[in-house]
Amino acid sequence: MRCLRLFLCLSLQKRNAAGVHTKGIEIYWVKIDCRVTSRFSRNVITSRAVNRANVSKEAFFDVELPKTAFITNFTMTIDGVIYPGIIKEKEVAQKQYQKAVSSGQTAGLVKASGRKTEKFSVSVNIAAASKITFELTYEELLKRNFGKYEMFIKVNPKQLVNKFEIDAHIFEPQGISDLEVEGTFINNDLLPVVKKSFSGKRGHVSFSPTIDQQRTCGNCTTSLLQGDFVIKYDVNRDSPNNLQIVNGYFVHFFAPKNLTRLPKNVVFVIDHSGSMCGRKIQQTREALIKIVEDLNPDDHFNLVPFESRVSTWKDTLVKATPENVNEAKQFIQTITCSGSTNLHGGLMTAIEMLNKAHQNGTVPARSASLIIMLTDGHPDGCKSTARIHHDVQEKIQGKYPLYNLGFGYDLDYSFLDKLAKENNGLARRIYEDSDSALQLQGFYDEVANPLLTEVTLEYSENAISDLTQNSFKHFYDGSEIVVAGRIIDNDLNFFTTEVKAHGAFDDLTFSEQADIEETAKALEDQKYIFEDYIEKLWAYLTINQLLEKRTTATGYEKSNLTAEALEMSLKYKFVTPLTSMVVTKPEDNEDKEAIADKPVEAEATRASQSYTYQSPQTTTYTSVDGDPHFIIAMPQKEDALCFNINEDPGTVLNLIRDPVTGVTVNGELIGDERTSNDAALHNTYFGRLGIVNVQLNLKLEITPKKITLYNGSKQMSFTWLDEGTLRNSGFTLKIIKKRSLEVSLGAGARFMVILHQAWRKNGVHQDFLGFYTVDSHRLSEHAHGLLGQFFHPIDFDILEVHPGSDPQKPDATMIVKNNQLTVTRGWQKDYTEDVRHGTNVPCWFIHNNGEGLIDGTYTDYIVSSLF
Ligand SMILES: *[C@@H]1O[C@H](CO)[C@@H](O)[C@H](O)[C@H]1NC(C)=O
Ligand SMILES: *[C@@H]1O[C@H](CO)[C@@H](O)[C@H](O)[C@H]1NC(C)=O
Ligand SMILES: *[C@@H]1O[C@H](CO)[C@@H](O)[C@H](O)[C@H]1NC(C)=O
Ligand SMILES: *[C@@H]1O[C@H](CO)[C@@H](O)[C@H](O)[C@H]1NC(C)=O
Ligand SMILES: *[C@@H]1O[C@H](CO)[C@@H](O)[C@H](O)[C@H]1NC(C)=O
Ligand SMILES: *[C@@H]1O[C@H](CO)[C@@H](O)[C@H](O)[C@H]1NC(C)=O
Ligand SMILES: *[C@@H]1O[C@H](CO)[C@@H](O)[C@H](O)[C@H]1NC(C)=O
Repeated sequence: MRCLRLFLCLSLQKRNAAGVHTKGIEIYWVKIDCRVTSRFSRNVITSRAVNRANVSKEAFFDVELPKTAFITNFTMTIDGVIYPGIIKEKEVAQKQYQKAVSSGQTAGLVKASGRKTEKFSVSVNIAAASKITFELTYEELLKRNFGKYEMFIKVNPKQLVNKFEIDAHIFEPQGISDLEVEGTFINNDLLPVVKKSFSGKRGHVSFSPTIDQQRTCGNCTTSLLQGDFVIKYDVNRDSPNNLQIVNGYFVHFFAPKNLTRLPKNVVFVIDHSGSMCGRKIQQTREALIKIVEDLNPDDHFNLVPFESRVSTWKDTLVKATPENVNEAKQFIQTITCSGSTNLHGGLMTAIEMLNKAHQNGTVPARSASLIIMLTDGHPDGCKSTARIHHDVQEKIQGKYPLYNLGFGYDLDYSFLDKLAKENNGLARRIYEDSDSALQLQGFYDEVANPLLTEVTLEYSENAISDLTQNSFKHFYDGSEIVVAGRIIDNDLNFFTTEVKAHGAFDDLTFSEQADIEETAKALEDQKYIFEDYIEKLWAYLTINQLLEKRTTATGYEKSNLTAEALEMSLKYKFVTPLTSMVVTKPEDNEDKEAIADKPVEAEATRASQSYTYQSPQTTTYTSVDGDPHFIIAMPQKEDALCFNINEDPGTVLNLIRDPVTGVTVNGELIGDERTSNDAALHNTYFGRLGIVNVQLNLKLEITPKKITLYNGSKQMSFTWLDEGTLRNSGFTLKIIKKRSLEVSLGAGARFMVILHQAWRKNGVHQDFLGFYTVDSHRLSEHAHGLLGQFFHPIDFDILEVHPGSDPQKPDATMIVKNNQLTVTRGWQKDYTEDVRHGTNVPCWFIHNNGEGLIDGTYTDYIVSSLF
C-alpha cells in the first residue's frame, strides 16, 4: 500500500467518523486563487496535506487546467523544503526524462487532455507526520465568446476539505458590466455560499463551503464538490477602442457595439463518406437542420456533400428564404453515407461556387463569405495533402476564411489545422459524443453574425514594434479583437490607433488617441494588477501566434519561428509545446525528476485521450453480456469500466442482491457445446437468469427458450415468440418478440434482458442472454453483487496512459478502491440498440476477473442455485 492515492483513500473512508482521517494523508486546505487584470488571468492552486499515518505515504496532486492556459510555476514544499519546478527547453527536459525513466524512476506528467482541459498530475512520497504544500500557477488570456469572458475552473477535491476556497478578483479598466457564476455541482444549499459582487472596475467571486456544506448528505463523507465552476463576465463598451499602456507595452481591445450584422454567404462542405456512417452522419444531419433554420433571410448558402463523388444541393448559392430553408432541410434528410473521402473535390467545388457568386453579383457586395467543412477522415489518396494545401490556397486567395471541423480522432488533425490556418480560418475538433450535434451548432453560432470584414488596426507610426496580428478577415458578434505591442518611442506623449473595416452599409474608421502618461497613471494604483500584465499578455499572444504560424511554415522560416517562440517561452516561463517543466522530488533519499509537458491538439489521439471523452450514450447501462463481459457505466466520469468472469458452465453468479428492497438477480453460466479438455478455453454465457422480488413475492426465470413468472404458488409461462406487456401491482413485464424483455420492479428498478440467438446452428454456440440494468435508483445503498455494488458511485483515476502489447489498446494505471491496477483500453459490446451487431462501448478493462475492482474476489459471488 505504498502508493496510495491521496484524494481517493480519504474519500473511501466512508465508514469513518465524518471528516476525521486517522489513517493516511489528509488534505486540509485547498485554495484556488484567480486574479484577472484586463482579461489576463493568473491562477494559483494551492493544496496542503499532512500524512497522519505512522508510515510514509504517496501524496497526489491533480489539477485540470484550461487547454488555452500555460503553466508558469509549480512548487512543492515538504516540511519547509522547497522543490521548485524549472522550465527548460523541451529536448533538454526530454533527455532528462528518458534518463529518469531508463533508471527506473517515476515521472509525473501533464496528462492527456479533455475537451477543455488538460491534467497536471504529480505524486510524491512523504514521510509519516510530514506536511506538504503543492502550488501550481497557470496563466491565460480570457477570450470573449458570445459576449462573455469565461473563467473555467474544474473542481474535484475528491474528499471533504477542512478549508476549501475559491477566490477570484477581477480588475477591468473599462468597468465590469455583468458577472455571473455557474457551477455544475451548485445545488440550492450551496447557492448562498457563492458570493459575487462587482462595482466599477472590480469584481469579486468567492466560494468557501464549510466541511458540512461539502457533504453529499447529512452524514456522508463524500464531497459534493465535483464539476465545473465557471465565472462569466463582460465589460462596458462605451468606446469601440480601449487602449492600455504599462511600462512600454500596450494592449488594444476592439469590440464596437451597435453594429449592423452583415449578410453572410456560407457553403457547408459535408463529408458523408463511409466512415461517417452511424451516429456521426445522424448528428451531422441534426446539426445542419438546426443551422439552416438559424440562417438569416438575407444570408446566402449552399450545401456540398462529398464522398468519392462531389454533389451540390443547388448549382449556385441561394438566398435563405423560408422556402429554400425548407427545401434544404429535406435535402439534408437524404444525405447518407458511403464511399471514400474526396476532400479536394469538395473544397474546390465550394470555393468555385463562392468565386462565381462574387463575380456574377449573386451575393451582395457587402457581405461576409465563409466555408465550413466537416470531415472525419483523411483526405483520400488521389490528391496528396501538399496538392490540397496548394490548390485550396490558390483558389481561395485569402478571400474567405475556411473553418475545418474535425469529427473524432481518426483523422489527420494537423492537416486540417494547417489547411484552415493557411486560409484565415481555424480548425476545431468535434468530440464523438451524444452532444456532437450541439458542438457543431455551437461552432456555427460563433460565426453566425459577422459584423465587419477586412479589419485592420494601425498604431502611431514609427513608435511601435513587435506588434501581434493586426489584420482580421472577419469580426463576429460577441467576440473581441486584441492586439498588443511594444512602444519604442520613449518621447511619445500621445498614442493613436486607427481601425479600418468594411461594415454593413459603408466603410468604417474608428480612431482613438490616448495620453500615455494619463493612461499609465490611471492603471498604476490598482492593487489587483500583477506586475507587467500587459507585457505578459503580449508575450502570451505573441507565443501563440508564433506557434500558429509555425504550423504553416517550412524550412528556415519554421526554425526561425520555433527559435523565437522558444526564446519567449523560456523568458516568460511558460510551459508551451516547446518547453517542459522539470520537477525534482525527493524519493527514498534521492531526488527524482518528473516532467510537465503541454499536450498538443494535433497530436491528440484516441489512444491517449479516449478515457476523457470517448463516451457513447450507451454507457448508461451497467450490464453483463457476451461471454460474460461486465460493463460498469461511470456516468459521472463519462466513461465505463469492464471485466470478464471466467468460470465453468453450471456456475451461478450473483449479479444483484439488495436486502432492503428484496431484489436479487442471479445468472447461471452455460458453455459452448463443443467440449474442450481445457476448462480455461471454455467460452461461457448466461443461459438462465433468475430475478426475485421478495416484497412482491415474485420470481422470474428467463432462459433462451421460455420465460416463467412465479407469483406465490401460481405460475405463468411465456415464450420468446410472445409479444406484449403484463402489468400488475407494481410489476411490469414487457416482451419484445425474439428480441428482448424489460422487467420493472416497483417504481425504480428496471432491467432489460436481450436474447441472443445463434443465427447459424453450427453446433458450437448456444442461444444465450444478456442482462442490462436500465434503472437502479430505487435499490438501496446496501445493494451488492457483481453489478449491484456499482450502483453507488465509485471513484477511480487513470494515470500514465502508455502503449500496451496491442498497439490499438493502450495500457494505463488505474487507482481504484486503494488499489493500483494495470488496465487496458478496449471495447465491449452493448446490444440494447442493435441486437445483431451491438454497439462498441469504450471502457477500461480490468484483468484477472475484475480483481482489485470488485469487492473481494469473484468466487465470493458464486451462489448455489438460481433462487
Ligand atoms: C502504526 O499504526 C498501526 C495501527 O494504526 C500499528 O498497528 C502499527 O504497529 C504502527 N506502526 C508503528 C511502526 O508504529
Ligand atoms: C514560484 O512559486 C514559488 C512559491 O510561491 C515562488 O516562491 C517563486 O518565486 C515562484 N517562481 C516564479 C518564477 O515566479
Ligand atoms: C448520523 O448522524 C446522527 C447525528 O447527527 C447520528 O445520530 C446517526 O447515528 C448518524 N447515522 C449514521 C448512519 O452514522
Ligand atoms: C445604433 O445604430 C443605429 C443604426 O445603426 C443608430 O441609429 C443609433 O444612433 C446607434 N446608437 C448608438 C448609441 O450609437
Ligand atoms: C455566372 O455567369 C456565368 C456566365 O456569365 C454563368 O454561366 C453562370 O451560370 C453564372 N453563375 C451564377 C452563380 O449565377
Ligand atoms: C528570424 O528572422 C528574422 C528576419 O527574417 C531575423 O531578423 C531574426 O533574427 C530571426 N530570428 C532568429 C531567432 O533567428
Ligand atoms: C400475484 O398474485 C396476487 C394475488 O393473487 C395478485 O394480486 C397480483 O397482482 C399478482 N401479481 C402479478 C404480477 O401478477
